[in-house]
Amino acid sequence: MRRPIVAGNWKMNTLRGEAEELVLAIRDLAAAAPIEVVICPPNVWLDLVSRSLEGSGMKVGAQDAYWKEQGAFTGEVAVSQLVGMCEYVIVGHSERRRLFGDTHEIVARKLVACMDAGLIPILAVGEDAGEHAAGRTEEVVRRQVGAALVGAAQGPLVAAYEPVWAIGSGEAASPEHAQWVATIVRDALENAGFEPQSVPVLYGGSVTPGNFAGFVAQPDIDGGLIGGASLDAQQFATLVEQASAAAY
Ligand code: PGA
Repeated sequence: MRRPIVAGNWKMNTLRGEAEELVLAIRDLAAAAPIEVVICPPNVWLDLVSRSLEGSGMKVGAQDAYWKEQGAFTGEVAVSQLVGMCEYVIVGHSERRRLFGDTHEIVARKLVACMDAGLIPILAVGEDAGEHAAGRTEEVVRRQVGAALVGAAQGPLVAAYEPVWAIGSGEAASPEHAQWVATIVRDALENAGFEPQSVPVLYGGSVTPGNFAGFVAQPDIDGGLIGGASLDAQQFATLVEQASAAAY
């Protein structure tokens, strides 16, 4: 019912030549996959990556976007400027929340702006280490999902559970913990007026070919949002294969 998704978040990595080489290598290895494969490069390579993927069936995503239509916002990229270059936009990644001050309200505005423009938000949520240790995961995730969807009408949406303590740390969550949180995400989606069974929920945080099969075997986890391992074509393609095998 839900098409699995494996999305690679390249973050602020790759020089032009590296981006070109990486996207072509991934295309060679993963274009035939029966699932949705999404590459989220830095904005400066969006055009390059979308041209390189033309005709492959693979999709492109941006890592963030500003919600204002246009104007004096030095350094920002508007959602409307991304239209035609990508189909997805990551919204609310913990690095945006922690390092760049994206509040609940800003995340909600970005999400609505993406939906209004016909781009599919990949809404990232997750507790940090302190919240995790304090047993506050459920409360934090419910709040993030609820706050992000204020003002959003039902529409295409992807959610990603990314515990902050697992991102880039080499210490992934357990598949059971991720499955539990995925059910909380679905419940929070329903409370916000969304049809929860139609929203793919991904896991992200130190995903590798060694641990991914355990995540995609979970009934409520529909794929992954991949950071480090998306910068290696072979590893990323292996993750795509694992998600495909779990689904079909
Ligand atoms: P990681 O990053 O796979 O490098 O932990 C995941 C993410 O931030 O999306």
